[in-house]
Amino acid sequence: MGPKEALIFLTLSVIVISAKRLPKGDLDFETHWVFSSCSLGDTSWQKTFIRSALKSWVTSIQPVRRLKQDSKIIKDARIVGRFHVNDTDYQPLVVGHDDYAWLKYGPEDQGNGWIVGPMKVRESKVTGRGLGFIFPDFHTAIVGDYENDKLFNGHNRNVKAYRCRQGMLELQYEPLKKLSPVFKYEAANETFLTSKPLLMDPYDKRNVYVAPSGIPNAGQGLFAKRTIPAQTLIVTYAGLHVYDEEDLYSEDMTPDEVEDAHKNLMSYDDDYALNIPPDMSSLHQYCSSLGHKVQHKFKNPNADFVFFKHPRFGYVRALGSTRTIQRHEEIFVDYYYSIKGDRCPNWYRTLYHQVFGTKGRPKGNVESDFSRLNFN
Ligand SMILES: *[C@@H]1O[C@H](CO)[C@@H](O)[C@H](O)[C@H]1NC(C)=O
Ligand SMILES: *[C@@H]1O[C@H](CO)[C@@H](O)[C@H](O)[C@H]1NC(C)=O
Repeated sequence: MGPKEALIFLTLSVIVISAKRLPKGDLDFETHWVFSSCSLGDTSWQKTFIRSALKSWVTSIQPVRRLKQDSKIIKDARIVGRFHVNDTDYQPLVVGHDDYAWLKYGPEDQGNGWIVGPMKVRESKVTGRGLGFIFPDFHTAIVGDYENDKLFNGHNRNVKAYRCRQGMLELQYEPLKKLSPVFKYEAANETFLTSKPLLMDPYDKRNVYVAPSGIPNAGQGLFAKRTIPAQTLIVTYAGLHVYDEEDLYSEDMTPDEVEDAHKNLMSYDDDYALNIPPDMSSLHQYCSSLGHKVQHKFKNPNADFVFFKHPRFGYVRALGSTRTIQRHEEIFVDYYYSIKGDRCPNWYRTLYHQVFGTKGRPKGNVESDFSRLNFN
């Protein structure tokens, strides 16, 4: 696609975005027609502006009621596909010809990727061959097979080209490289996280690196490998499941050992938390996900904890950028530890009082949603 065509493509997307959206309450979560930036007709394979074209496509997707042919917006446009909005799972699914579909994969609006290709979706679970999981940068992808939402035979093959066909945006991926490692879904539990602890996530690998933190004596920190835009998923935070925090400790532990034991504990939901225990905290032992390497900062952190559904790890957490992060900038989050409990680390309590004085953190921040750990 030449720059001119790209411009037309993007302009069309903008027009579509500004088209009147249906009020949310009006969707009855059944079949809707779709109008998107691919509704104007088929294109040949395009290899330029991949990220912006994919992003434009997903933001341009509009569920519409059957519009009259004389409607201004769809004059000469073809409307192809069905749009399912699953209110329970927040999984928008766009299905076009031959079951070719785009499924938003993940909880609610946070940090999602998309699964793309010919698929069947039953009770929100995906089955299909050669499906691409497109990470939120609209470039990095794991292409593999899915059975009931479980990935197998996955390989890192990034998006190489795209085209519009019968109203759907179709994707082509880089060819399979020799000796390319296999990604597959494995269910984590209290004792098991992955059979390949040294296989790095392709998206983490692209976005971040680990190096000594700028905070003195704090150990390793996480740094941006490239410019990361605001409101973007940065890195995955996976871990062993911890159902009872007390399991992490034993009577004979020193305070330092206690601190080490929960250093990477990350809340997930009411049932369990995620953890990278001390015997996995060296990158030589585990580097499949790197979110646990992030350091804490009270003032102006550039990232926050979000929820993510990863084809390899399933439901996990992740870091999302709260503003643009420059290349080589260190990534920080506010851990939001509760300072009331006994297990709050001393360094955190000291820093807390240095930053907020005796009055403490100003009220009004929602603590529970983003807290890494409440120490309740
Ligand atoms: C939506 O979610 C419900 C409950 O999980 C499920 O029964 C239903 O099949 C889903 N619909 C679609 C279109 O995936
Ligand atoms: C955890 O998962 C591993 C690997 O699938 C399995 O061998 C082990 O039995 C599981 N443990 C529990 C407690 O479910």
